[in-house]
Amino acid sequence: MRYLLGLDIGTSGTKTALFDEEGNTIKTATYGYDLFQPQAGWAEQNPEDWWQAVTSGIKEVIEKSNVKVSDIKGIGLSGQMHGLVLLDKDCKVIRNSIIWCDQRTEKECNYMTEVIGKERLIKITGNPALTGFTLSKLLWVRNNEPDNYKKIYKILLPKDYIRFKLTNVFATEVSDASGMQMLDISTRNWSEEILNELKIDKSILADVYESVVVSGHVTEEAAELTKLAVNTPVVGGAGDQAAGAIGNGIVSEGIISTVIGTSGVVFAATDTPRFDEKGRVHTLCHAVPNKWHVMGVTQGAGLSLNWFKRTFCAKEVEDSKKAGVNIYDLLTEEASKSKPGSNGIVYLPYLMGERTPHIDPNVKGAFLGVSLINNHDDFVRSILEGVSFSLKNCLDLIEGMKVNIDEIRVSGGGAESTIWRQILADVFQYPLTTVKASEGPALGVAILAGVGAGIYDSVEDACNKIIKGNSKVTPNLELKEVYEKVYQKYNSAYPKIKDM
Ligand code: XUL
Repeated sequence: MRYLLGLDIGTSGTKTALFDEEGNTIKTATYGYDLFQPQAGWAEQNPEDWWQAVTSGIKEVIEKSNVKVSDIKGIGLSGQMHGLVLLDKDCKVIRNSIIWCDQRTEKECNYMTEVIGKERLIKITGNPALTGFTLSKLLWVRNNEPDNYKKIYKILLPKDYIRFKLTNVFATEVSDASGMQMLDISTRNWSEEILNELKIDKSILADVYESVVVSGHVTEEAAELTKLAVNTPVVGGAGDQAAGAIGNGIVSEGIISTVIGTSGVVFAATDTPRFDEKGRVHTLCHAVPNKWHVMGVTQGAGLSLNWFKRTFCAKEVEDSKKAGVNIYDLLTEEASKSKPGSNGIVYLPYLMGERTPHIDPNVKGAFLGVSLINNHDDFVRSILEGVSFSLKNCLDLIEGMKVNIDEIRVSGGGAESTIWRQILADVFQYPLTTVKASEGPALGVAILAGVGAGIYDSVEDACNKIIKGNSKVTPNLELKEVYEKVYQKYNSAYPKIKDM
């Protein structure tokens, strides 16, 4: 049997997963790390923490699986997108990585729009200037930390930093590179126009490959640290959203996915680049050669429940520990005791500003409509509902772009809760399918590694073999009206609170 390794360098931790060539999960390991918030709206991580989590994860998976390392035929890398890793000429990290959810770059986005123009930016990069994307972060460093900027030899995305540590190669691939906002998504290569207009030296960028292409091989030094075999091929891989989509079989038009991870996403594969003229959903290259995708992103999905747990749930955390149950199971169980509409509370999940549909880095979250009757259950439910409404905003826009929707597949940590899944199906008024494979992005990039290693003919072929639809959540039609009303209320809130 041949094996494939998938790594997902996420925001809360890195998941390492070993699969056999039939897509069965053999072993997984997850190692967490910190997120630093030096100021409100800022978010940073230490790339060295990711590397520690990667080496520990790979070692654990190899040790516990008893698989011969020479039978691991390929490695796929996935991870949080958009983060900026800066390396100096000695290939040392210059400063902490400014990651995807950081919102400090509004000024730089205005500058990008001024120099290039919103329409042109959308035409070339698939997106208007976005605070979350890498380019504005790079410009922020140029404006605010000129000494650090001068030291830059290469800039890398989070998973591409791990590739460098494993293979000593500076490379990226089209899906994640699209999220840097320096790629021409039609030609799938760096945009000379964007680089020239903004005076960015192309030599600081890594080489860009299609996601299934082998970009490097494990070095002796990395093999020693991880216990992998020297020369194991590492393919391009994909940003976590494209990778997760492949792990869910979203490789051609018709089947779309929705993910409740730290952020929340609605994702559709397309055969040609499709744009929303206002840029409210992202258009990026897919990790499948010659395919693109559109996705709507809400910043604070699982992040919202995690924040609420940390901030308001000391008693629940204590109870869950005593009872030996998962805290999120306990919280979503509380939500089920409230009612659709959360007894009047409407939650706006804008804890880190918002992307789809508002593109507003400054808007803040809110609980609206709170009254004396409300209890803890209502607050938790309002979070599950508010995130679902925000995902419906994404779905509405994608439907409006005339993308076929034959099936919606749901995944991500939040979707492991049957209660949250049901709420989402009721808000969408669409049936939602879960897929058997639960490892999401890690499986997606293991599939890409399998294509690169010649085990599968194509990504589509691998998905047909491996990914099977599992259970279906059917929407409760009786809740259509009540959710439509609350959704209207939810949508009417943003214009009223956005400047507060
Ligand atoms: C996608 C995005 C997030 C991060 C973190 O555009 O910003 O999904 O990749 O998961």
